[in-house]
Amino acid sequence: MEQLVIAGGYPLKGEVEVSGAKNAALPILCASLLTSGTMVFDNVPGLRDVGTLLRLLRSLGATVERDASRVTLSASALGEPVASYELVKTMRASILVLGPLLTRFGHARVSLPGGCAIGERPVDLHIKGLQAMGAHIEIEHGYIVAEASRLKGARIFMDTVTVTGTENLMMAAVLAEGVTVLENAAREPEVFDLGECLIRMGARIKGHGTDVVTIEGVPSLRGAEYAVMPDRIETGTFLVAAAATGGDVRLLGVRPDTLDAVLDKLTEANALVACTGDQIRIRMRGPNHGVSLRTAPYPAFPTDMQAQFMAMNAVAQGTTVVTETIFENRFMHVQELRRLGANIEVEGNAAIIRGVDKLEGATVMATDLRASASLVIAGLIAHGETVVDRIYHLDRGYEKIEQKLSRLGAQIARRSVEEA
Ligand code: EPZ
Repeated sequence: MEQLVIAGGYPLKGEVEVSGAKNAALPILCASLLTSGTMVFDNVPGLRDVGTLLRLLRSLGATVERDASRVTLSASALGEPVASYELVKTMRASILVLGPLLTRFGHARVSLPGGCAIGERPVDLHIKGLQAMGAHIEIEHGYIVAEASRLKGARIFMDTVTVTGTENLMMAAVLAEGVTVLENAAREPEVFDLGECLIRMGARIKGHGTDVVTIEGVPSLRGAEYAVMPDRIETGTFLVAAAATGGDVRLLGVRPDTLDAVLDKLTEANALVACTGDQIRIRMRGPNHGVSLRTAPYPAFPTDMQAQFMAMNAVAQGTTVVTETIFENRFMHVQELRRLGANIEVEGNAAIIRGVDKLEGATVMATDLRASASLVIAGLIAHGETVVDRIYHLDRGYEKIEQKLSRLGAQIARRSVEEA
C-alpha cells in the first residue's frame, strides 16, 4: 500500500500539461470491440483504470500494444465474449463492453458491477435500453447474460441521465438494424468524444453531446485512429489546487469549453481565470470567498468536482453549501477533512462548510477517487505534514499526480507503508 506525504503551505506556481480524459478513454477503448479493424488511440492516460480495461480487453482476446500514451488495439479474433467478475469488480466502467460485444457477436456474459463507495450505481437503464433493442437478457449467478441475433433500432427514453448508459447504448446501436433514438441522453463531453470516434470508424450518429442522440445502424465499422480529449476533471482539480494554495498556475493542453460551470464557480470564489486556446491560467484576486454549489448532469456543475471544491471551501471566508444530487453517498471525504480541522456538517445530500482560519496536517484515508483528490488539496493547504493513505484510489484517475504537483512547487512525495 502506498501513501502520499505532503508538507502544506506552498502556493502552486508554474505550468503543467493535463493528460487524456479517463472517462473518454474508457468507452473509446471499448469501441475497438466493434470492428475487426485495428484501432490506434493517442493521448490515452496512464491510469490504473485504463490498465484494468486493457487487461479485460486482452482477456476477451484482443491484441493490445501500448507505447506511452499511444494504444494500438485489434479485436479481430476474439474468444468467448465473457467479462469476468474478477476484472469487472475492480472497475464498474467494465460494463461498457456489454453493448459492443452484444451488437458485434450476438451474445455476451458480463458480470454485474458490484456497488461502490459513492453509491449503489445500478445498471438497470443499460439493460432496459438493450431489451428495447430486442436483446434477451437474464441475470444468472451475478452475470448479465445477453442474447440478440441482431439488435434492432428503437426509440429509448432514459428516465435518469446516465453517462455510461448513454455510451453503452450508442455503441450497441451503431451495428443494429435501423435507427435508434436515445432521448434524455447524457450530454457530457466524453459522450461527444465517443461519438466522434465512432463516426471516424464509419458510424452514422447525430446529436451526440445533446440530449437526443440518433444512430443509424450500419453493417460494419472500420479501424481508425483517434486522439482522446483532455481530462476536464483533472484540469478542474489542478485549478482548484492552484486557487486553494493562492498560487499562479497555467494548465496546458486543455479544453476550457468543457469546464464552463467549474470556471464560473472559481471566478465566484475570487479567482482570476484566463483562457487562451488550449491553456487556462488561474490566480487569486484576493481572499478565497468559497462558493456554494449544486451538482447536476452536464453542462451543470460536475459531481466529480464537488469534493475538490469542498477542500477549498474549508478555509474560505464564510459559510458555503455543497449539494450532491447525482450519487447518494459522495461525502466520504467529509470525515477525513474534519480530521484536518475542517468544520463541515452533513444534512442529507447537503454539506454545510463553515470556513476555518487554517487546517492542521494529519493522517487521512482515501476512500474513492475524487475524495482522494480532495484530501491532497487539503494537504497542500494544511499547516504541517499530511499523509494520505490508500492512494490506489487516486491512481485510478490521476496520472503521475505527485510529479505534476512537485513541478508546481508542492512538497509532496510517494512512499510505501513499509518505508513509513
Ligand atoms: C460516469 O459514471 C463517470 N464514470 C463518473 O465518474 C461520473 O461521476 C458519473 O458518470 C456522473 O457524471 C465514467 O464515465 C467511467 P451515471 P456512471 O450512470 O456512468 C443512476 C469518476 O470519478 N443510474 O451517469 O456510472 C446512478 O445511480 C467517476 O471519474 C441508474 O439509476 O454514472 C446515478 O445516480 C465516478 N441506473 C446517476 O444515474 C442506471 O442504469 C448517474 O449515474 C445508470 C445510472
